[in-house]
Amino acid sequence: MTLSMKDRILKRFLQAPGEPISGQALAEELGISRTAVWKHLQTLQEEGYTFETLKKKGYLLTNKLDKVDAASIASFLSTNRFGHTIHYLEECDSTQIIAHELAQNGAMDGTVVIAESQIRGKGRMSRPWESTKGKGIWMTVIIKPDVLPHQAPQFTLVAAVAIVNAIKSQCKNFTPTIKWPNDILINGRKCTGILTEMIAEVDRVQALLIGIGINVNQQRKDFPEELHSIATSLSIEEEGQLNRAELVAEILNNLEHYCDQYVSEGFSPIKKLWEEASGTIGKSIKATTLTEVIEGKAIGITEGGVLEIQLGNGDIKQIYSADIEL
Ligand code: BTN
Repeated sequence: MTLSMKDRILKRFLQAPGEPISGQALAEELGISRTAVWKHLQTLQEEGYTFETLKKKGYLLTNKLDKVDAASIASFLSTNRFGHTIHYLEECDSTQIIAHELAQNGAMDGTVVIAESQIRGKGRMSRPWESTKGKGIWMTVIIKPDVLPHQAPQFTLVAAVAIVNAIKSQCKNFTPTIKWPNDILINGRKCTGILTEMIAEVDRVQALLIGIGINVNQQRKDFPEELHSIATSLSIEEEGQLNRAELVAEILNNLEHYCDQYVSEGFSPIKKLWEEASGTIGKSIKATTLTEVIEGKAIGITEGGVLEIQLGNGDIKQIYSADIEL
């Protein structure tokens, strides 16, 4: 994991909440002097973290910051690769744009770009994506599976399964559902969007950019008026603040697991999990594609992640891309 020395010290404190750690122990563990430890703690204090010095026991972290920086995420991470390189930004145009550049310059599988806010967050179909500062998860994960370009859309479904399970592990007051292909809803309102972009040659995927936007700690007033009836946050539905860094780590833990499962066992196990979490399958829906409006019953997804709709006359239509109304 590529963490700076300051972040390695912070990670140690975050991993042992409420426990004092001695300067000597930290110095020995990290192979630096006690003065160097003290200097890093001073820098962390300047950033807003507070430490108390307890006689004979060491330093105690008494105030941590609500950030999604590398150290905060790393303290909850249990992956082999994903999240081992994290590019953390206070603000950027879009994490997708930065990830694109990194992917073209040899970024490793599982590299993460994450920001506290985005000025020009990108949604699907070139829509803007509202990315309120410090309230959500705005990140792009660069993945490099050895797959063909036509398999790329399945990774949106892999990501949806990873995110739904991560949300379920952190939130107990509701059950999120997946709306095909890539929205996660709570009680009919959207809390998460996924935007998968691909860098590829005709016969080879170079990298997939899995863009994940999750409304986490916004309150109703944080959303623009026009989104009130269609958007929500985990915090509104759970009725409490969530630890964003822990949720990011849980998503990365799951995403690595499901990407590896996809490579070793194929799409079938993911398809099953996706269908179990889906709020679309079995429902009467209206699908608006670029060329037509189709009404019918959503009966399932194909091995390729394509939605199948049964029309009134019994015919089955396959939908590759559409806006769905339930
Ligand atoms: C959608 O339209 O539902 C997809 C929204 C995807 C938003 C995320 S936020 C992080 C990443 N950076 C972006 O600019 N977009 C994606």
